[in-house]
Amino acid sequence: MHPALSEFVAGAKREIDRLPDVADRVDAITPLMQRLTQLAPEFLGPEHRQSDPANYRRNAIYLCPDDTLSLYALVWLPGQWTPVHDHGSWGVVGVVEGFLEERAYMCPSGEICADTGIELKRGGVVLLNPGAVTSFVPNPDHIHMTGVAAGRPTCVSLHLYGRNMSSFHMYDVAAGTRRRIDVAHHKTTA
Ligand SMILES: [Fe+2]
Repeated sequence: MHPALSEFVAGAKREIDRLPDVADRVDAITPLMQRLTQLAPEFLGPEHRQSDPANYRRNAIYLCPDDTLSLYALVWLPGQWTPVHDHGSWGVVGVVEGFLEERAYMCPSGEICADTGIELKRGGVVLLNPGAVTSFVPNPDHIHMTGVAAGRPTCVSLHLYGRNMSSFHMYDVAAGTRRRIDVAHHKTTA
C-alpha cells in the first residue's frame, strides 16, 4: 500500500480506538481525509480510476479484515447517481476531481425503525468542489442521494466508512418504503 494510504488508515484507526462517539470520530478524521484528497494524485492508480458507463463505480482501496473500516475510490461519470440511501455507519467523503452533489433527505419523525410508512422530506443540496470533505453519522441515519449532474465533468471521490460498505438501505421516497440491497465493489491491487 502507498505510504500516504497506510498513514491515513493508521490515523483513522487510531481515532476510532481513541474516540467511542461516532460524531467525534468523523470530526477527527475529516482533516485526515482533506489531506488524503491532496495526496490522491500520488496513490490513485488506473485501477482506482476505472469507470463504468452503466453505473457509478466503486473501486475498493482498503477493506479492513475485521470489517471496521473500508475505503473506496468512487468514479462518477456525468449523469450517474446513487439511489436515495442510508449507510448504517459513520462516513467521511472527500472529493479529488470534479464536483460531487449531495441531495439530503430527512425523516421528520426521527429514527426509522421499520421498512414501511417512512416519510422523507427533501432537504438541501451541497455541491462539493475538489478538496471538499463531508461526513455523516447514523441514527437517525443520514439519508441522501449523491452523484454528478449531466454536463459536469467526471468526478473521483474517496469514501471512508466505519464498516465494509457492502449493502445499504435503498429508499422509495414516493412509496415510503426501504429495502436492503447489496452494492458491488471492484477489488484493486493496492
Ligand atoms: Fe452515501
